[in-house]
Amino acid sequence: MLIKKPADVASSEITPKRAYLSRRTFMAGAAAAGASLLAGRKLLEMGSPAQVVEAGAKLSTVKGPFGTDEKLTPYKDVTTYNNFYEFSTDKDGPAALAKDFRTRPWQVKVEGLVQKPRTFDIDDILKLAPLEERVYRHRCVEGWSMVIPWVGYPLSSLLKQVDPLGKAKYVEFTTILDPKQMPGQRARILDWPYIEGLRLDEAMHPLAILCVGLYGEALPNQDGAPVRIVVPWKYGFKSAKSLVKIRLVEQQPINTWNQAAPSEYGFYSNVNPQVDHPRWSQKMERRIDGSGFFASIKKIPTRPFNGYGDQVAQLYAGMDLRKYF
Ligand code: MTE
Repeated sequence: MLIKKPADVASSEITPKRAYLSRRTFMAGAAAAGASLLAGRKLLEMGSPAQVVEAGAKLSTVKGPFGTDEKLTPYKDVTTYNNFYEFSTDKDGPAALAKDFRTRPWQVKVEGLVQKPRTFDIDDILKLAPLEERVYRHRCVEGWSMVIPWVGYPLSSLLKQVDPLGKAKYVEFTTILDPKQMPGQRARILDWPYIEGLRLDEAMHPLAILCVGLYGEALPNQDGAPVRIVVPWKYGFKSAKSLVKIRLVEQQPINTWNQAAPSEYGFYSNVNPQVDHPRWSQKMERRIDGSGFFASIKKIPTRPFNGYGDQVAQLYAGMDLRKYF
């Protein structure tokens, strides 16, 4: 992104902890993880949904559409190779720094040009629609990609609850502002809070999901707990994390990265191998699939709309995608 270009990403960043954790630490961690999983199950049995969805808790899901059978990115990489600048600009920083991030209580306001504005408690969001497992490709603007089994449901299910008015043309997403908990927000790396936006028809598209988990469990904090969006045909930065506000508006929102560097990050940011980032090519990507160190991963061609062209290309019919990048 603005701070690091792909060439700056050290190969060591891709296997951050795994490489140096001693077996003993690993075993202790595994035992703790097992214990918290068990605790989660117990709470589930006790019918206490307010607790069970804390990071790591098991979620029951149904298989969702648009899946791919490409090799999954290992859980370890999905949860230790993160962009979450509110915590750190290092890829392995958020996992450690977000460890104690509080995701309960948590509310998401859905407001603006809607008939029925509403504040949703996170536990109501979890129950709003059946949770689906959606295995999506995830392409970061920096040139790496993953395949992640997200858990969520169409964002449209939430938006329909508030009845958007005819005047609403865009949706703006706001991440929590909490510098006490988020060390990155104590520096002016970006203009906080992190804001993203979609056109309303993009937000209503069945591929766009409201995401509450991955790998069958509640979202780890570093991946945007307790709720984020996932928009798989766009560069990863459009998928804002840890949301507290969703606003329907008439004008195109000013998203954080576009505001920070307008010539580098457009509003649309559809994955497009034909339109280079001003500082690097977008033609190829390194798929993080557990096969080796970052620098040794063979590059593969990037596909238009991240391979979801059949589903979404018609949203942009007639638009010059070099201009609206
Ligand atoms: N959302 C917030 N609030 N802050 C961020 O720094 N980074 C974005 C996006 N959402 C970011 C964010 C970028 S650049 C990417 S690639 C994805 O989150 C990374 O999501 P992941 O860590 O779950 O892979």
